[in-house]
Amino acid sequence: MPAIAVIGGQWGDEGKGKVVDLVAEQADVVVRFSGGDNAGHTVINRFGNFALHLVPSGIFSPKALSIIGNGVVINPEVLFKEIDMLIKNKIDVSPSRLFISDRAHVIMPYHVVLDGLEEKLRGGQAIGTTMKGIGPVFSDKIARQGIRVGDLIDGQSFTERLRSMLGQKNLLLTGVYKSKPLSFNKIYQDYLEYGRRLKPYVRDTTVVIEKALKENKVVMLEGAQGTMLDPDFGTYPYATSSSPTAGGACVGSGISPRAITRILGVFKAYCTRVGGGPFPTELDDEIGSQIRERAHEYGTTTGRPRRCGWFDAVVARYSSRINGFTGIAITRFDILDTLETIKICTAYKIGNKTITDFPASLTTLGKCKPVYEELPGWCTETCDIRNFRDLPLAARKYVKRLEELVGCPANLICVGPERNQTIVKKAVI
Ligand code: GDP
Ligand code: IMO
Ligand code: MG
Repeated sequence: MPAIAVIGGQWGDEGKGKVVDLVAEQADVVVRFSGGDNAGHTVINRFGNFALHLVPSGIFSPKALSIIGNGVVINPEVLFKEIDMLIKNKIDVSPSRLFISDRAHVIMPYHVVLDGLEEKLRGGQAIGTTMKGIGPVFSDKIARQGIRVGDLIDGQSFTERLRSMLGQKNLLLTGVYKSKPLSFNKIYQDYLEYGRRLKPYVRDTTVVIEKALKENKVVMLEGAQGTMLDPDFGTYPYATSSSPTAGGACVGSGISPRAITRILGVFKAYCTRVGGGPFPTELDDEIGSQIRERAHEYGTTTGRPRRCGWFDAVVARYSSRINGFTGIAITRFDILDTLETIKICTAYKIGNKTITDFPASLTTLGKCKPVYEELPGWCTETCDIRNFRDLPLAARKYVKRLEELVGCPANLICVGPERNQTIVKKAVI
């Protein structure tokens, strides 16, 4: 069987956790390939209600192996809290079911401290990060001064790396930021202990993935964040620091691009964004607040209110082009149930000029006014509907229009947060 990537098509929080949990019922391996605990993936199924930050959302599928790939950055404290929470809920997270790449980078306490200090220094231009140390840890990775899981479980290599890195970081903390230095001994002891606990989970995960593919097993690649937060293609610098795209799935897991044959784009039936940065279809009005409250649009990781707006087909087409979606999952469809009319942005206008490709420049984006097309709402509750043909006509028309605009078929339409609140229009596997 081929590999299937599940990718956020907007600004994150599209409902990837829910979709992966559902599709993983048929998967053999589920791999997280990017981001870190800035991600918050909500899964609601017969085992309970979970917010996962690092463990793949496939962990609930009894037959699936879960892998935290090389492209993920790991805060061990957060990981072990999550593992303990899952164990408490009787989910098997033993080292025979969860593998962690020896190449994944580790979030150190100075990364978290620096994330906060850098944001403060940015003042009015703050990115609105999740404060999890993501920017600083990926900077260190690219600058070749990171500490990897493999170093952590090898005591000797860890001592040397930490001594050298902490020396540098303390100079930065005290000299530039006039902040307190961090203690070597405390970090050393804590992280040696994390290393000991991590050891049984750690291996070269690329070998496991290759073997699964050779045995014709279903490998799923679980995206974190969304395409519009990509450092290359997103609304840079209001972006994250690793690639949430289908291309990023290869780099972050060590899988060949040839192995991925299906790419499922996850889109909310409208749009949200949390943190700073441009958002052309943002609604600063009553409808925006209505959506936020009805959908309880508050961050899974930080609790911050999410900005809400209409579905942006300029973004969706762009995202589909970058990723090569073979199908889409439309989530939170039920949230639109109460609206009499629904808008879709099909283009932007700058003065008299119409733009249909998403601009790179923030200045240009700032001038873009959405061009809307208006569709009638269905004003009918959809949360108990399970067959596409049972949706009201106006709802089916909305789905059809999104399919046309994005340029690929809808596989799934989610009408509620629980695993079974899903309409399978076209099987994913
Ligand atoms: P992720 O980061 O992409 O996994 O998404 P989050 O979990 O951060 O945010 C998605 C939110 O939408 C969560 O609260 C989910 O429980 C919820 N959700 C997912 N699909 C649906 C749906 O179809 N309807 C409703 N009402 N909620 C949904
Ligand atoms: P999931 O996987 C939504 C946003 C932050 C901020 C920007 C940079 O749950 O979809 P960072 O901490 O990464 O340096 O923050 O990216 N962001 C997310 N927004 N969902 C996420 O993950 C996000 N991860 C990061 O809000 O604007
Ligand atoms: Mg989320």
